[in-house]
Amino acid sequence: MCGIVGFAGKEPAAKFLLEGLSKLEYRGYDSAGIATLSEGGFTVKKSTERIESLKADTADGAKLNGNIGIGHTRWATHGAPSIPNAHPHLSADGNFAVVHNGIIENYSEIKAELESEGFKFVSQTDTEVIPMLLQKYYKGDLMQAVRAVAARLEGSYALGILCADYPETIVATRKFSPLIIGIGEGCNIIASDVTAIVSHTKNVIFPEDGEIAFITADKAELFDANGNAIEKEISAIGWDVAAAEKGGYDHFMMKEIKEQPRAIAQTVESRIKGREIVFEDLKLDTEKLKSFNRIQIIACGSAYHAGIVGKYVFEELLRIPTEVDIASEYRYRNPITDDKTLVIIISQSGETADTLAALKEARELGAHTLAIVNVVGSSIAKAADDIIYTWAGPEIAVATTKGYTTQLAVIYMFAVWAARKLGSAPVERIEAMFDGLLKLPEATEKALLCEDTVKEAAKDLTDTESMFFIGRNIDYAVALEASLKLKEISYIHSEAYAAGELKHGTISLIEEDRTVVALCSYQRLLDKMLSNVKEVSARGGHIVACTTEGNTNVESNAQRVIYIPETDPLLTASVEIIPFQLYSYYVALYKGCDIDKPRNLAKSVTVE
Ligand code: G6P
Repeated sequence: MCGIVGFAGKEPAAKFLLEGLSKLEYRGYDSAGIATLSEGGFTVKKSTERIESLKADTADGAKLNGNIGIGHTRWATHGAPSIPNAHPHLSADGNFAVVHNGIIENYSEIKAELESEGFKFVSQTDTEVIPMLLQKYYKGDLMQAVRAVAARLEGSYALGILCADYPETIVATRKFSPLIIGIGEGCNIIASDVTAIVSHTKNVIFPEDGEIAFITADKAELFDANGNAIEKEISAIGWDVAAAEKGGYDHFMMKEIKEQPRAIAQTVESRIKGREIVFEDLKLDTEKLKSFNRIQIIACGSAYHAGIVGKYVFEELLRIPTEVDIASEYRYRNPITDDKTLVIIISQSGETADTLAALKEARELGAHTLAIVNVVGSSIAKAADDIIYTWAGPEIAVATTKGYTTQLAVIYMFAVWAARKLGSAPVERIEAMFDGLLKLPEATEKALLCEDTVKEAAKDLTDTESMFFIGRNIDYAVALEASLKLKEISYIHSEAYAAGELKHGTISLIEEDRTVVALCSYQRLLDKMLSNVKEVSARGGHIVACTTEGNTNVESNAQRVIYIPETDPLLTASVEIIPFQLYSYYVALYKGCDIDKPRNLAKSVTVE
């Protein structure tokens, strides 16, 4: 997730901006930049290295004049990490400088329009259309130009804008992206995140979507979207810097769990135009899709579990045989992969060594490779034939949450997109899936409401040494991920089983009070699941069940029941994992484990 800072004061801005960017480093970034404004115009400094190098290049900001400025840490989405793509971006006439957090969904059409009018772009970013549009609409009245530009932008944004004609003013506005104004003594500040503000002031204003702020050293004036002045309350924040980094949560994992509705919305909505799904720059077309007789999904860890969901989704909607492989297994066997194979590589980091090696192997064997990756410009993103980014923003907790659910969102979207082209499933089925996909952020939000129930259920587990997760079909795929989540952060031995396999071994381990989490949300096989639950109960097992709202018949078979909203059966995988992310979190919390950095685990496994 990109970070924004802006400073209007009575002393040089650059030092503050660089300090503010350092505070935003924890969010993850691949490049950074600042622009200050003085009588000589804008001075812009950018780097694809650490903020420290920007500090070194500018003598801690001392080389940059100007008491007003904006700064940015970039987490690449549109265009690789590079100096031209780093913010701030300038208008062609050099009259505007802009930093942006979010995604402008209609940037391609705006860019085409501006290019046809003679504007020359220097970056591949969506952001650059904003300073260009400001130049186009500016007729001497900055408010009027900002409103005209805001009316053109679709998607999400928090913006910091400087105009050379207004040498004392920062303009800030937002829509669906966070933005905060800090009210200081002799200075006023903007930032995407309170971390960049708290060491200067605890007095803040939270602008709403569409509101516009004009900020100088002495005042912060707020306007509604029509340009009418409005009064806003100044709030005092009680957080210190450490709490602020985590958005007020105790751990990044909880922050990232709670970010999921927004992250999934960002992944999905930015690709939807009307009822069309549009993947920019995808080389795959209908003809190529028709040539595949096999899909192989290759990944590690939770990304592999997302792949297992993918198998159910692709086989149902595309009717193409789909295999899922652990990357370290795929790379050392003699896989049957050829030019009729679509290989889908899934990786949050884009740097997992085994996954990267498997991708190279698949390419050598002639497959078309499609990477589902979160980190733009990562090794896997660079090596694949096609990429669909998950756009989850940086994930800091080692145990993945939003990384995994946004991978699922891409799998669902890709399946609907391909099924429409192939006509491989009944139209009503495909369109129902599409409608469900649009409602997935809302269903995720509702699933988070189970937190209190889950928190109670987690208390039962603090002395547990070993437990099981069982499910069938999609519920089985979720069981694998839920079990991994629990063992990763709580260190409880846990295994996931296909419920139908219980009788072939695991049932011998069921004894008095053994906890078994029974995932019972896949409606079509609910009766079969309930039979398995009864088998476990009869042997003294302690059942924690998860099912969709309305399935109250599960209650008579379980000690605890967690309800999730009903969605399309395939989409259930994304919704049903939410309670178990929370469950794992609370078990680990009660046991006093290091939640964000579990022992022996790494966020990104870049060695074999
Ligand atoms: C590590 C992480 C997991 C992740 C796996 C694959 O084990 O702890 O959370 O699922 O790597 O990582 P990737 O970045 O390729 O998705």
